[in-house]
Amino acid sequence: MAARTVKLAVIPGDGIGPEVVAEGLKVLDAAASGHGISFETTEYELGASRWHATGETLPDSVEEELRGHDAILLGAVGDPSVPSGVLERGLLLRLRFAFSHYVNLRPVRLYPGVGTPLAGVRPEDMDILVVREGTEGPYAGMGGVLRKGTPDEIATQDSVNTRLGVERVVRYAFAKAAQRPRKQLTLVHKDNVLTFAGELWQRVVREVGAEFPGVSVDYSHVDAAAMFFVSQPQRFDVVVTDNLFGDIITDLGAAVAGGIGLAASGNINPENDFPSMFEPVHGSAPDIAGQGKADPTATLLSTAIMLDHLGLDAAASRVERAVSEDLRARAELGADERTTSAIGDEIAKRVAGQG
Ligand code: NAI
Ligand code: MG
Repeated sequence: MAARTVKLAVIPGDGIGPEVVAEGLKVLDAAASGHGISFETTEYELGASRWHATGETLPDSVEEELRGHDAILLGAVGDPSVPSGVLERGLLLRLRFAFSHYVNLRPVRLYPGVGTPLAGVRPEDMDILVVREGTEGPYAGMGGVLRKGTPDEIATQDSVNTRLGVERVVRYAFAKAAQRPRKQLTLVHKDNVLTFAGELWQRVVREVGAEFPGVSVDYSHVDAAAMFFVSQPQRFDVVVTDNLFGDIITDLGAAVAGGIGLAASGNINPENDFPSMFEPVHGSAPDIAGQGKADPTATLLSTAIMLDHLGLDAAASRVERAVSEDLRARAELGADERTTSAIGDEIAKRVAGQG
């Protein structure tokens, strides 16, 4: 196999970010070694600590350097000491927009042995791939404030839906659905009320769907989808949805599929014009930071999404299989008292053992 070097930018971030990212790198090395893949990592100190020290969220020079990488692995950023929105808009959203991460991929999958609050739901009932739009909708930053602080204050936050933006994410979702056994795509929106945007999404799904005759198409209002994620998750295979709706239903998905410690994500630029960024869905968890209590599994599953995106499918499968085995073993153990690094070590060992 030809040797391949992946230039990986690493943003450990704040709180438990550095703890879980260390395990991610351990497992990536285990997946790569002996398979002609190596990771050349560069670490960037960004997040709350940098903001406190220098007032910077993402210096232009760092954005430029990140651009030169094949992928980015991010832990989590944020701390109660930083005003809300500073890091979200100044770092996370800025990277998503600058690097055109128009696909936010969030699997909602119940692994065997993992507990769910849903009675009677089996792993085969919950294997949903949510394709959330990442650069538009109400998160685009359009809107403004007038007469601030007066009784006549007005705040608007527009939802941006471009033909280009909707079409590219819908096409990506169809392509994913076509590769999966069930070949089903559900559009989640609220087209009975958000009629302008909803009609655009519906029309694009119809038109792009014509290119994928093997994929069956379904539709669900977002409020009903929230209900079905809980009552009938087996309804869904691939879900494509707006930025805000996707944010909300994937947190619900995380809660029913084993909790925030397992929820993985990828912020993807499918054309590879820019590096894609992979991160656990959870935040910096200041309440447990520095204690070795964080579950690194969400980060490890995010590295599997990264390997898959980089075309390293075999390595991705090794990581996913090792995580799945570890989750099953946990169920047999009962209470999992392992530290963050002990979990990482054992999963890395399983990855290496698969050769
Ligand atoms: P959080 O996800 O950090 O924590 C919520 C709860 O889940 C806490 O009780 C925490 O201990 C637990 N938890 C989270 N990850 C865990 C893991 N891997 N293993 C075990 N338990 C885990 O959300 P919260 O508390 O709302 O936010 C904390 C900080 O993180 C804030 O500053 C927030 O802005 C930031 N944040 C950053 C994100 C990112 O970097 N993408 C995403 C979400 C929040
Ligand atoms: Mg969220």
